[in-house]
Amino acid sequence: MDYHIKDKSLAEQGRLRIEWAGREMPVIKLIRQRFAKEKPLKSVRMSACLHITTETGNLALALKEAGADLVLCASNPLSTQDDVAAALVEFGFPTFAIKGEDNQTYYKHIISALEHRPQLTVDDGADLVSTAHREKTKLLADIIGGTEETTTGVIRLKNMARDGKLKYPIIAVNDAKTKHFFDNRYGTGQSTIDGITRATNVLWAGKNVVICGYGWCGRGVARRAQGLGAVVVVVEVDPIAALEAAMDGYKVMPLIEAARIGDIFITLTGDINVIDKAHFAKMKDGAILANSGHFNVEINIPALEKLAKSRRQIRAFVDEYTLADKRRLFLLGEGRLINLAAAEGHPASVMDMSFADQALCLEHLVKNKGKLKPNVYPVPEEIDNEIGRLKLKAMNISIDTLTREQKKYLASWEEGT
Ligand SMILES: NC(=O)c1ccc[n+]([C@@H]2O[C@H](COP(=O)([O-])OP(=O)(O)OC[C@H]3O[C@@H](n4cnc5c(N)ncnc54)[C@H](O)[C@@H]3O)[C@@H](O)[C@H]2O)c1
Repeated sequence: MDYHIKDKSLAEQGRLRIEWAGREMPVIKLIRQRFAKEKPLKSVRMSACLHITTETGNLALALKEAGADLVLCASNPLSTQDDVAAALVEFGFPTFAIKGEDNQTYYKHIISALEHRPQLTVDDGADLVSTAHREKTKLLADIIGGTEETTTGVIRLKNMARDGKLKYPIIAVNDAKTKHFFDNRYGTGQSTIDGITRATNVLWAGKNVVICGYGWCGRGVARRAQGLGAVVVVVEVDPIAALEAAMDGYKVMPLIEAARIGDIFITLTGDINVIDKAHFAKMKDGAILANSGHFNVEINIPALEKLAKSRRQIRAFVDEYTLADKRRLFLLGEGRLINLAAAEGHPASVMDMSFADQALCLEHLVKNKGKLKPNVYPVPEEIDNEIGRLKLKAMNISIDTLTREQKKYLASWEEGT
C-alpha cells in the first residue's frame, strides 16, 4: 500500500484520539451501522481531500463500512494531525498528508490521491477537483460525482460550472443547513478562539478584536470573543451583514479605521488581501493577525514580508515581523486557518453533522449515478432534515409536531383577522 505520512509509530495515539472524537459523533455512528449492513458504496473508488483530523478518521471508517475503496490526502498543508494520518494508514487507508508539508508536496499528495482513479471525490476547498480538471482530465469521465465541504470550495466550483468547465456533478455540502448553520458558526467560532489562544495564550478580556467578515464563521467568532470579554469590531463589505453586526451590538467600521485600535485581527471572508499594506501601516505595536478563512491569502503576507526589516519565530505558530519604525506585528500560523494550524479544528460534535451530510450525499450520488448533469447541486432537503432529526435524538431533545389543524391552517389563505 502506497502512503506518505510523517511517522507510522504515532498510529496508536491517533487511533485513541479517533475513538475519543467518535464519542461525540452519534449520527456518524448510526450511519456507519446502517452502511455496514447495506454496503451502499461497495467497491466504489473514492479520493478524499480533507483536513486529516480525528473527525475525518471517523468519516473514513464509516465509508469503509459502506464498502468504499478510499484514499485520503490533506486539504491544507498545516492542518494534518500526524498521529491521525498514521492511524489511517494502520486502518488500511492509503494516506498522503504531513503537517507542515510545503506547497509542492501538498500538490504531489493531491496527485497521489487522484492516481487512485476515483469514481467519487470528496473535497474541502476544491483543490482536488481543480487539479483533476487541470492535470488529470482523462480521469474525469469515470467520476460519478463529488462533494464539497466549504464555502470557498463551493464558490470556486460554481465559478467552474458558470464557465462551463465543471465536468461532473458536485453536491455543495457546505450549503446544507445542518452544515453551515452549525459547523461554520459554532465550530469555527469556538475553534478559532481555541487556535489563537493555544498559539498565544492571550487574555481576550478587554482586547479590541477586529473580525473581518460577518458571515457564518465571522458571526460565530464575534459572539465567542465577546463572551470572553473582548470589545468586538466588525469589518464588512456587505451592507446587510454590516447592519446585522451593528444590531447584534458590535462596532462596525472600515478596516483602515479599525487598524488603529485592534489588538487582534481575524479574517474569515474567503476573500484576498483583506488586510493589506495600508492597514499594516496603521496598526499598533504588538497587533496579532490571524486568518480562519480557507486560504492563506486573506492577509497580504508578501506585503508584510516586504515591509518587515526582520522576522523571527517567537513561539510555535507565532511569527514576529518587525517593521522599519520598530513596530512588531505577529502573524499566527503562517496565515493559514488558525483553528486547524494551531488547534484541532472543529469539535467532533459539529463535524458529526457535516460528515453525516458528506456520507449521505456520497450515497445519494451513487444511487443517482448518470442522472445528474455536471453542475453544483444543493444537499437534498430530506438528507438535511434527517440529519437534524438524528442529531436532536442523539442529544436527547424532543420537539413538538404540527397538529392536523395547524397543518391545515398553515396551508390555507382564507383565515385572517
Ligand atoms: N476555519 C475553518 O475551519 C472554516 C470552516 C468553515 C468555513 N471556512 C472558510 O471561512 C471563510 C468564510 O466562510 P463563511 O461560511 O463565513 O462565508 P460567508 O459567505 O457566510 O461570509 C463571508 C463574509 O465575508 C464578507 N467579506 C468578503 N470580502 C470582504 C472584505 N474584503 N472585507 C470584509 N468582509 C468581506 C462577505 O460580505 C461575507 O459576509 C471561507 O473561506 C470558508 O471556506 C473556514
